[in-house]
Amino acid sequence: RKGKTPEEVVKRYLQKVRNPPEEDCTICMEALSGPSGYKGPGVGGISRAESVGRLAQCGHQYHLQCLVAMYNNGNKDGSLQCPTCKTIYGVKTGNQPPGKMEYHVIPHSLPGHPDCKTIRIIYNIPPGIQGPEHPNPGKPFTARGFPRHCYLPDSEKGRKVLRLLLVAWDRRLIFSVGTSSTTGESDTVIWNEVHHKTEFGSNLTGHGYPDPGHLDNVLEELRAQGINEEECLPRE
Ligand code: APR
Ligand code: ZN
Repeated sequence: RKGKTPEEVVKRYLQKVRNPPEEDCTICMEALSGPSGYKGPGVGGISRAESVGRLAQCGHQYHLQCLVAMYNNGNKDGSLQCPTCKTIYGVKTGNQPPGKMEYHVIPHSLPGHPDCKTIRIIYNIPPGIQGPEHPNPGKPFTARGFPRHCYLPDSEKGRKVLRLLLVAWDRRLIFSVGTSSTTGESDTVIWNEVHHKTEFGSNLTGHGYPDPGHLDNVLEELRAQGINEEECLPRE
């Protein structure tokens, strides 16, 4: 049997709302007390009693039909993200195409990290054909600048970031397919929302060292993708 239906997935994260507040649903901009403004396919048949739901953790309320429509527009991985506060329900995954992530330690120090060696991560993604989770299914995508080399200090915090990046890679969250803001090319592999340092000894692009805030920024960006050490790393 196939997995849960979109409506079942969405309902798993919702609490019932008996009396919808006098507010608009921020997905469709229509009143929560009235019907959903979204009339797409496959969202009918929802009874009046359950037409509005409250997301269990953050408390934000939406039309059930609107959440189902939003879920259907995404990659349908069983997770849901509140469009208001970005709280993630379930395990968020992305649409990174197939490829390889490798890393090793190199015996040199990064600017700003004189007391440790360096971790070099090498990402390799070949061009291919877009799948149903991509902007233009069936159309080719390009992959520029691979292998892409990235650097982290081989410190305790740098190794923690590496372990979380490995989780992000498995969840297909490091890259995505879309339009490059640097080159303007569409249907190409692009960095997703987790910043990497691609320069080793210089900082010509702004994606180099020194950058004292870098590791904390990355930890924050990973957290925004649902990846944090409390849930994703084994306890020592
Ligand atoms: N190194 C690291 N991150 C970068 C770089 C870079 N040289 N250029 C842009 N980014 C970051 C941006 O700050 C943004 O957050 O990647 C994100 C997406 O930017 P795009 O330009 O859309 O991404 P992409 O086309 O993948 O990257 C542009 O990065 O690694 C290089 O070879 C790659 O030249 C390409 C460049
Ligand atoms: Zn709505």
